[in-house]
Amino acid sequence: MDHIILGIESSCDETSAAICINGKIRSNIIATQSIHKSYGGVVPELASRSHQKNIVPVVHEALAKAEISPYKINAIAYTRGPGLLGSLLVGSSFAKAMALSLSIPVIPVHHMHAHIFSHFIEEPHPEFPFLCLTVSGGHTQLVRLDDFDKMTIIGQTQDDAVGEAFDKCAKLLGLGYPGGPQVDKLAQTGDPLRFTFPETEMPGYDFSFSGIKTAFLYFLRDEVRKDEHFIENNLNDLAASIQHTLINMLLKKLKKAAKHEKIKSVGIAGGVSANQGLRRSIEGLAQENKWQVFIPKFEYCTDNAAMIALTGFLRYKSNNFGQLTDSPLPRMIF
Ligand code: KG4
Ligand code: ZN
Repeated sequence: MDHIILGIESSCDETSAAICINGKIRSNIIATQSIHKSYGGVVPELASRSHQKNIVPVVHEALAKAEISPYKINAIAYTRGPGLLGSLLVGSSFAKAMALSLSIPVIPVHHMHAHIFSHFIEEPHPEFPFLCLTVSGGHTQLVRLDDFDKMTIIGQTQDDAVGEAFDKCAKLLGLGYPGGPQVDKLAQTGDPLRFTFPETEMPGYDFSFSGIKTAFLYFLRDEVRKDEHFIENNLNDLAASIQHTLINMLLKKLKKAAKHEKIKSVGIAGGVSANQGLRRSIEGLAQENKWQVFIPKFEYCTDNAAMIALTGFLRYKSNNFGQLTDSPLPRMIF
């Protein structure tokens, strides 16, 4: 018998639905909300209104693309948290209502677990123990996986997430939101060693990204005082140099953790893992350290429902279901 899972993701500003059949993704539809661009960041109220508008057509399209009737679905997996409350409410209410009408179970999923499980969407899968650097707009975590249900955070940011640092530095350069992909693009033709910025040292495997953002702000302020066209005349080098520093801060800890934990199977996940510079650098480190490195396909790096559907499939096999009374958890514990 086929196991068919509908996955729904609505934690931030992406409305997404996906169909997973026996562990294989058949469709993954993502509606990106462009309305936030003019505000320079995600406006929570506008995000939840857009989710309300998008959720029905996105689910319809996911079903149509997978050529699946809703009556064939065995369970609905949805993001329970962490995320914006108004956004989570739309996806979770829709998932529960649809499950109730079809008399099928719901599977609440932790958004960051799903980012990690994006490594199991396609072959080859990582072997356990596996070390995953999860880098997104809200999180920066080093997670050790010894099994699907045995995950430990061994290091994390004590302040800003690295995606937030990318976005804030981009804003200081006058780039639009989200800034990460724009820094990435400009950095490709810039000199990463032209400018250096102080890296905050943290104990163990922890990170801190708030200091670098302030250092970047003061550096730009001082240079612009000397030359008002400093930013526009050095844009690519500035993007490449700040990106180089952020990547270095991430990879230093990944290297340290892989060595001390004696793990050779490593990966990156989350929105920032779409970064070309990070992807190239980790490939280089993998060759140097004889790691087996795992990088999700581009469409599975940023927020998507394929990772929710796949996590749902893994939970479905172990009868790990939720209740219709479960409410969204904006600060869901890992
Ligand atoms: O995982 P994600 O889509 O949403 C959250 O769960 O937060 O991550 C979004 C973050 C944003 O900060 C965005 O700027 C960053 O991922 N991002 C990138 C790139 N693509 C997305 N950062 C650097 N380079 C990229 N190519
Ligand atoms: Zn995410």
